[in-house]
Amino acid sequence: MVQINLPQNSKVEKGTYYKDTTGSKNIRKVNVYRWDPSSGKNPRIDTYEVDMDNCPSKVLDVLNKIKNEIDPSLAYRRSCAHGVCGSCAMNMDGKNGLACTKPHSEIKGDINVYPLPHLKVLKDLIGDLSTLYKQYESVEPWLKTSKTNENKENLQSKEDRKKLNGLYECIMCACCSTSCPSYWWNGDKYLGPAVLLQAYRWIVDSRDEDRKERLKKVADELKLYRCHTIMNCTNACPKGLNPAKAIASIKKMLATS
Ligand code: SF4
Ligand code: SF4
Ligand code: FES
Repeated sequence: MVQINLPQNSKVEKGTYYKDTTGSKNIRKVNVYRWDPSSGKNPRIDTYEVDMDNCPSKVLDVLNKIKNEIDPSLAYRRSCAHGVCGSCAMNMDGKNGLACTKPHSEIKGDINVYPLPHLKVLKDLIGDLSTLYKQYESVEPWLKTSKTNENKENLQSKEDRKKLNGLYECIMCACCSTSCPSYWWNGDKYLGPAVLLQAYRWIVDSRDEDRKERLKKVADELKLYRCHTIMNCTNACPKGLNPAKAIASIKKMLATS
């Protein structure tokens, strides 16, 4: 039988335990993945005892409290704190989501926080999204039209506008792509659910004049057909979108065109 072991330097070790210093009776343990490439050391899990009496309701509030009051070296992305920018996407309690919208009360027991799965980690909870952004750029996510009169609105019918519902709300947080097994194993070639949903958003935009070319560009065994309708992506989306359906719609359009 083949035995596959992780390389020694990728084994996650036990890190520092930060005991509560406030004397609070309402403590929760928060286990956080830590890795600093400049240290030359293995990744580790640090544990923080956090006073929940003085902590607002979301996982991001817990991380901010740790950073501001216990350990300023903790690194993570955040910006809007309102589920709009997508930057605080991470894995909490085993599920991808936005730290700023995830209530910590929904997590039973210890709060476990990891970076989004299967990304190269840059530091602590910060994953490397550069491949995903390059793939996003490759679908040319902007309106292509010969109508260039900037002083005139480019109108859509109500019905055509409706086709963008469930697509335009995507915040490119990458929760879906990093929960997709096909993207884990073929992420350099398969575009993944986030980028394919964006591709579809432009394919169905009635104002866009590049539909045929856009379809041709994604009609590829590796870029598109690596989706096996496992649906992890749709389950993971914190905005309630359905990237699996968008992918199926692209396939249908290709099959019938
Ligand atoms: S439905 Fe497709 S894109 Fe979504 S998780 Fe499954 S394989 Fe990935
Ligand atoms: S479809 Fe949902 S999970 Fe995927 S990038 Fe967009 S908002 Fe994030
Ligand atoms: S900080 Fe912007 S979505 Fe969470």
